[in-house]
Amino acid sequence: MISSDDPLDQPLAVNPMFARGGERVELPTTKFPELPMLPDTAYQLIHDEVMLDGNARLNFATFVTTWMDDAANRLYAETYDKNMIDKDEYPKTAEIEQRCWQLLGDLWNAPNVDNVIGTSTVGSSEACMLGGLAMKRRWQQARKQAGKDTSKPNMVMSSAVQVVWEKFCNYWDVEMRLVPISEEFPCLHGSQLADMVDENTIGVVAIMGVTYTGVYEPVQEICQALDQIEATTGLDIPVHVDGASGAFIAPFLQPDIVWDFRLERVHSISASGHKYGLVYPGVGWVVWRSTEYLPEDLIFKVSYLGGSMPTFALNFSRPGAQVLLQYFNFLRLGREGYTLVQQASMNAAKHLAAGLAAMDAFEVIADGSDIPVVAWKLAKPVVWTLPELSRLLRAAGWLVPAYPLPDNLAEQWVMRVVVRNGVTIDMMDDMLADMNKSVSWLNQLTQPLPDLNEIHYHH
Ligand SMILES: Cc1ncc(COP(=O)(O)O)c(C=O)c1O
Repeated sequence: MISSDDPLDQPLAVNPMFARGGERVELPTTKFPELPMLPDTAYQLIHDEVMLDGNARLNFATFVTTWMDDAANRLYAETYDKNMIDKDEYPKTAEIEQRCWQLLGDLWNAPNVDNVIGTSTVGSSEACMLGGLAMKRRWQQARKQAGKDTSKPNMVMSSAVQVVWEKFCNYWDVEMRLVPISEEFPCLHGSQLADMVDENTIGVVAIMGVTYTGVYEPVQEICQALDQIEATTGLDIPVHVDGASGAFIAPFLQPDIVWDFRLERVHSISASGHKYGLVYPGVGWVVWRSTEYLPEDLIFKVSYLGGSMPTFALNFSRPGAQVLLQYFNFLRLGREGYTLVQQASMNAAKHLAAGLAAMDAFEVIADGSDIPVVAWKLAKPVVWTLPELSRLLRAAGWLVPAYPLPDNLAEQWVMRVVVRNGVTIDMMDDMLADMNKSVSWLNQLTQPLPDLNEIHYHH
């Protein structure tokens, strides 16, 4: 019941949208609201507030899918109420989840697809955590069996890893051994490993598609270096491939790059279904080359409403619809369709990279030939900065981030465009035209602009 006596608060048919209860007051932000409001009013208020968000299709910072087929949208609307954990109640959704990770095992060249094991997750972060946990547990078990100390596990990776690996090492007490990136080695290389690994190394992470620049780490070379280390020291160190983006690109666009289960040392691979898997946010995948690499004691058999569910996940409840959307894409596109879609993105990325390379201001550092990501830096010192260019582009509608590279290269700022499904060559031409106009304007400056970050919009 609405308790106000104000006639405008009554849910009458004549109650005009922008003058009814709720619309005429300030929205509660710190105090839990006392009174209800009509659903249409609540809808309109939130709908209007998020108008100030950027346009997702023009968000070139994100790797995450912002467009799906209409049929996928229909399937989504029909299945948003399914909870992935209710495997007993939604056995078909559970079966489809299993089909998806088995298909991924095949796509990633597992030696025996009947023997792979995997799971869907909320994204690559959860998938990486599970991959890391399996490595840690296997290492602990082997050490315990040999009567050795298990108190100092470490993991080796490049300093350009995504933040999830920092979280993994922090949350699960694993020493994070970072191989610094540099101009010479902008990502992890096999030659850097000998001094980094020891008997406490639970595994090495190799990234297929470094977040900052999109470049692939040479997984085969990393595995060969570890083979060499095993030959001389006896240490048998596994590799987890963080294929957040590249695990859905390389199989289609660079099938000759050997990075996956063709390499025996690769025990597990994680990927984001919601990036180049082409599904809306939140779905990820992790697959182990065979059941022996996922320790049994990490799997919980949860008894729930009469069923017994094997699960290995950090979350309990999570949406099932995204898993169905992943299967939709596998059926809808197949290898041929994925190849077409990813190739279109790569073509648009290379077109953008060529346009940027033709501008005096920039040096392209990733031209979209690994994953369709283009990154560039200033070719020479100028009076303006990349964050200022980013601000100007935002005013024209383009969301293009500017940020410093990690670690030793932190002095170096770059801009990055992630080209995803739905980004066309025409859009890239429009962006280049606005880029040219913005750079021409900036080049006329004779002294630095005042700090634009002093303006805080909205909040
Ligand atoms: C290499 C890499 N690993 C992990 C992640 C985390 O993925 P998610 O956002 O799906 O949790 C990302 C995200 O950008 C990434 O690029």
